Parts: sequence; structure tokens; C-alpha cells
Amino acid sequence: MAPAAPVRTDVLVLGAGLAGLYAALAAARRGAGVLLATKGSLQASNSYMAQGGVAAAVAADDSPADHAADTIAAGRGLCDPAAVGLLVAEGPGRIADLEDLGVRFDRDAAGGYRLGREGGHGRRRILHADGAATGAAVAGALIARVASEPRIRVLEHTAALALAGDGGACTGAWLLGHDELRPARARMTLLATGGAGALFQRTTNPPGAVGDGIAIAYRAGAAVRDMEFVQFHPTALAGGGRAFLISEAVRGEGAHLVDAGGRRFMLGVHPDAELAPRDVVTRTIEALLARGGEAYLDLRHLDRGHVLGRFANLAAGCRRAGLDLAADLIPVAPAAHYLMGGIATDLDGATSIAGLYAVGECAATGVHGANRLASNSLLECFVFSHRAVAHGMAAGVAAAEPGRSPLRPLARAPLADLRRRMWEGAGPVRSEEGLTALLAWLGERADSNPALVAGLIAGAALRRTESRGGHLRSDLPDTDPDQARSTTCPPLHSTV
Ligand code: SIN
Repeated sequence: MAPAAPVRTDVLVLGAGLAGLYAALAAARRGAGVLLATKGSLQASNSYMAQGGVAAAVAADDSPADHAADTIAAGRGLCDPAAVGLLVAEGPGRIADLEDLGVRFDRDAAGGYRLGREGGHGRRRILHADGAATGAAVAGALIARVASEPRIRVLEHTAALALAGDGGACTGAWLLGHDELRPARARMTLLATGGAGALFQRTTNPPGAVGDGIAIAYRAGAAVRDMEFVQFHPTALAGGGRAFLISEAVRGEGAHLVDAGGRRFMLGVHPDAELAPRDVVTRTIEALLARGGEAYLDLRHLDRGHVLGRFANLAAGCRRAGLDLAADLIPVAPAAHYLMGGIATDLDGATSIAGLYAVGECAATGVHGANRLASNSLLECFVFSHRAVAHGMAAGVAAAEPGRSPLRPLARAPLADLRRRMWEGAGPVRSEEGLTALLAWLGERADSNPALVAGLIAGAALRRTESRGGHLRSDLPDTDPDQARSTTCPPLHSTV
């Protein structure tokens, strides 16, 4: 395919979840021309599906210091305190900015925020919009702003095949969309391409979440780190098909986790019981399931009207599965939900390649450590997109010629087999034997983005010879204090 004429822009944003949308608006508001390209539609992102909300210390009885303490405790020794400090300190300002942009967070009759609670948070701290449809509500408001911003050009159904470079700096990307291969040249390129949950058989993520941005950054020579840390959400609806998430917010409103005998099995495991950090709840459920048991969410003791009003979208999802959220026991099991690792960045979202920034789930800023605190991910999108745009626009590289075109679009391998093997070998419970077999299988596959990213996850999981946060090794169940450090994946040869 002969490349089409290059398109020039000040800021190229790849990915249109909340990090990409907010970055595009931040750049446009600073006067930049923005090209926002996304491989699906604007509504196809993982953050569009987010239920829980946005964690921020906005309550009168809360503080950034308390929010930081909960974040660092959940991160199991691997959070970067400086990154966490920025996240919690700048969070309330980003919330105010979102409201200026038209986002309406849920409020009570007196006009105060209606705050929810989720696992690992010491208090109610979660802002939500439209009940448990926060992602769609916030993204909807930002999409409307993007549509009315003349400085932003949107290209939907347009994938980034590779990054373009000049002298070791990133100068844009090769875009494939609408039967056209086209170089985009930019002074600043920002990856906001999301995570990789769809590499696993059971996932709450949309099918496109296969780590494409991480793959193209890694091939270009960017440092990638902490890929073993995948967060498995404890309470996705059990059964086949895509795993429908039952938000942790239901436990924040008092839902219990019970076994087949009706026993609340989190009591005695952790002082916060159902509101323990996510890794603790997932491990407990995995152990129960491994013994042949069953895990259920039980909301039957809660006010039916409140449950159905506050969680209308969850009630509808359960109804589609033949269940009444307020009246039935809801069978749940873990599912891949979030990638804590990703493209290594500094506190301004800058990667190891000049001109290239990464924000949101594809990035590893250090705020999540080995186990993300619930609802910190959306806050991270806003705080670090804002910082990255401010930094990148000040430091932009020259929008040089794009260099050679990628030889061919990268092959898309069939994913069903890979997803099953990832679940078995690198899922919620891992072992040297399973990871070694998985890596041998992956080594024989074509160099597709999913296989590359799957290999990064499995390789990092094999090298981390302990259990910590989201990374659970059945053969090495203890946490090793000597491994309380972030690890970088072995590099490939740079292509920029
Ligand atoms: C949830 O609603 O349980 C998910 C929130 C999150 O992943 O932060």
C-alpha cells in the first residue's frame, strides 16, 4: 500500500478513552492543533465502560494525605510516592476542571457530592456520574466538547501501526484507517491507547484492549515496566462470555460476599472484610473457587429501591443474565480488569523517547504499584494527561519527515487460543511451570501486538519470583522484601 500524503499536527493523540479525550482538550485549550486518532469509535474505550468512578479527596473530612496513604498501602510497596503525591494533590483541581467542561458528578439534595466507597479506601471518596455509568457520563461530556473544538480533528477507526522517528526522537506515527496508510507528523505524540485485559479469556475490557500502544512503543525502543502486574477484578459475573463487571461500589453500599452456604467469607480475612483491597478479595475468591466453592454477591438485605436506582445499569446487566440484582444471589468470579504496568514515564508522562508521552492505562507512572487502588485510574488519566500536555507542548520536537513506512500492517493473530492460554498460564494464579509453557507457545507465534504484549506479561511474571499485589505465584506464595522494586522489560532494538 503506497502511503498517502503526510498530515501535520502540533499534538498527535492516539487513543480516545478519558486520557486521550482530556489530553486533546488540554492541548487545544492551549492553542495547539490536535489530531485525535482511535482504532475504534469514540465510544469503544475501556474508560467509557468504567462503572465505579473517580477517586479524589474532595470531602471536607478527607485529605490528599489520607488518599495517598490508602493508595500506597494498596500498592504493596511498589508505588512511587512522588507520583502518588501529584495524583492526590492535583486530583481535586482536575475534578473542578471536569465540571467546567460540563461533567455532572452525582450530588445529593443539599448539593454536596454523593460519594461512594470502594475497596482499600478508608472513607467515602469516589465521585460518580449517572450512578454506576460514570465512564460513559464523563466521556460523553468530553466527546461533546471535543466535537465543538475546531482545533481538534478526530479520526475514528484509524489504528497506529508504528511510531515514526528521527534521530532517536518520536515525530509522529503511521496511521492505518479507511484503507489508507498515512504518516502523521507531530511535535508531540501522546499514547493513550489503554490496557491489555482482552488478552485474557475472562475480562471486563472491550475486545480491542490488547496493548497495541505498548507494543508500538516497545518496538520503537521505549522502556516498558512492571508488566507482571495485571489486576484481576474480584467480582465479574461468573459464567461464559465477556465478563460483566459488578462494580465494587455495590460493596461500598453494603453488599456482602458469601459462599454457597451463605457465609460471609471475607470476615476474618481482612479488617475491612468486603472492602479489603482488590488483590486480597481476588485471592480469597480464587482460593474458594479452587476448593470447588462458589462466590456470590448478596444485596438482599439492602433497600431494593436504593439498589435499583443507584445501580440501574448493573441491574439491567444482571437482568439480561436472568438475575435480579436486589433479590438474587449474584455469582461472581475474577476477571482481568486493569494493567498496572506499561510504558515507563516520568512525572510528566514523558517516556524514554523524546517527543513521546504516555498516559492512562498504557502508561506506568508509578501511582499504582503492584495493586491499583479502586477508581484511581480515571483520576490518573486527568492528572497525568494535563501534566503531559503542559510538558510536551513546552518541549516539543521538530515535526520532521516521517522516515520509512512500516513494511506491512502487522498480522492480527486469532486471539481465542492466546486468550485461553493467557488465562491458564498468566491469569490470577501463576506458576513457573505454567509461565514457561506459555512463553514457549508464544515464542512460536507471529510477531503480532497481542503476542508481543502477552510475552511481556508472561516474561515479567516468570522473572518476579514472589507474590505481590496482582501477581500471585502458587509456587512462590510469599512476598519477598528484597523484590520491592519496579522492573523494566528487556529492551528490543529501537526503531526510531
Ligand atoms: C469498579 O467499579 O469496581 C471498578 C472501579 C475500578 O476499577 O477502579
